[in-house]
Amino acid sequence: MTDKTVKFTTEGGDFTYPLLEGSVGPDVIDIRKLYGESGKFTYDPGFTSTASCQSAITYIDGDEGILLHRGFPIDQLAEQSSFMEVAYLLLHGDLPDADELHEFNYTITRHTMVHEQLATFFRGFRRDAHPMAIMCGVVGALSAFYHDSTDITDPQQRLIASHRLIAKMPTLAAMAFKYSIGQPFIFPKNDLSYTGNFLRMTFGVPAEPYEVNPIIERAMERIFILHADHEQNASTSTVRLAGSSGANPFACIAAGIACLWGPAHGGANEAALNMLREIGDVKRIPEYIARAKDKNDPFRLMGFGHRVYKNYDPRAKVMQQTAEEVLKELGKTDPVLDVAKELEHIALNDSYFIEKKLYPNVDFYSGVILNAIGFPTEMFTVLFAIARTVGWVAQWNEMISDPEQKIGRPRQLYVGATMRDYVQVADR
Ligand code: SDX
Repeated sequence: MTDKTVKFTTEGGDFTYPLLEGSVGPDVIDIRKLYGESGKFTYDPGFTSTASCQSAITYIDGDEGILLHRGFPIDQLAEQSSFMEVAYLLLHGDLPDADELHEFNYTITRHTMVHEQLATFFRGFRRDAHPMAIMCGVVGALSAFYHDSTDITDPQQRLIASHRLIAKMPTLAAMAFKYSIGQPFIFPKNDLSYTGNFLRMTFGVPAEPYEVNPIIERAMERIFILHADHEQNASTSTVRLAGSSGANPFACIAAGIACLWGPAHGGANEAALNMLREIGDVKRIPEYIARAKDKNDPFRLMGFGHRVYKNYDPRAKVMQQTAEEVLKELGKTDPVLDVAKELEHIALNDSYFIEKKLYPNVDFYSGVILNAIGFPTEMFTVLFAIARTVGWVAQWNEMISDPEQKIGRPRQLYVGATMRDYVQVADR
């Protein structure tokens, strides 16, 4: 709280509201009493200027291209940390010591199996169902299997549900992939890392042992870390809004998965690789740049632009470096990476993108790496959901524990018909 205030002058009088300041970033105008005192709403479609909550988890400075998780810069975490360390950090507020990390790893590892009836649940889907459709259904169904961790008023049940969600997402994601290719589900293996376990459940087969490739394991760890949390993005806000009604955590995370699927959000990684493949050759880039700039063409450069970053997305930088490293270490080349780098170069020197401050975001290069590792494009957003579940769960817990939290219920600017009487069909 500061002693600074903001005054609104209206025809009905002047209204003064406190200015709240955080530890860093823009101050906020506390307008909670605005409607009660002035009879007026604020209007902010897409919430471009609205802080929906207080949070201590992630800070983004869009102008400077800064991303901090509990104060730690994303590039340092991506280079030096593990995904389980970042998960602990987001959930509990600080990096774990060796004992805390060991206990957290032990706990998460022993929640990776799913109820055997869930395997039957998968049978109801068509084999060609999009894996995100399956994830929406199966994660929402978890509340039908884990009744002993749906009471959100019980901190212990909240913690168990949080561990279950973080632990079971890779298992369910691997099952969705296996189901789509007609291969048997692979059980988790407790002596593997979180990421190594996921790779084995995804690419392993019962017919032979599967050795986790450390290069791929490290790349996936980094990708999970880069996708773990991102302040009040659309899917996190969806999880918070669902949770504000008291819905159980499994239903809230399923709502987040549904929102993440959209091509303007987490679905952009699949769309970006499909776009780069469609462009196919650096010679065709000008054609697509022109389409992206054409107001009459709905085409957008997927993986470009961001609501908050008006500078380079720091995650995209790490992602591009990782793409180069993984392809080199795997002895692979991918013409799509050349198209992506040339597209970035051309776009970042084009006045349209410069004026609108459009830079590559986290989704622009991720597909190149995931494709090199062997994931089909339909799985890309599922991988995003695995990582983002850690952020969603941390944000959900923070919301439940926030004494200021109440059910989210925005208002509107009504532009529809004013009151009128019913007209019988014969008289219409
Ligand atoms: C993620 O919020 C998060 O933090 C999300 C995320 C996370 O970690 O949770 O970072 C993950 O969702 C990254 C974004 C992935 N989406 C895409 O890559 C899809 C392509 N990008 C756009 O659809 C767009 O940039 C958004 C949706 C990301 C942001 O949209 P905004 O903030 O609503 O901005 P806008 O659509 O109003 O665009 C501003 C202007 C517009 O032109 P004008 O109407 O002002 O003339 O820039 C143009 C847009 O037409 N523009 C683009 C463009 N993105 C914006 N033009 C061409 N190509 C693009 N990619």
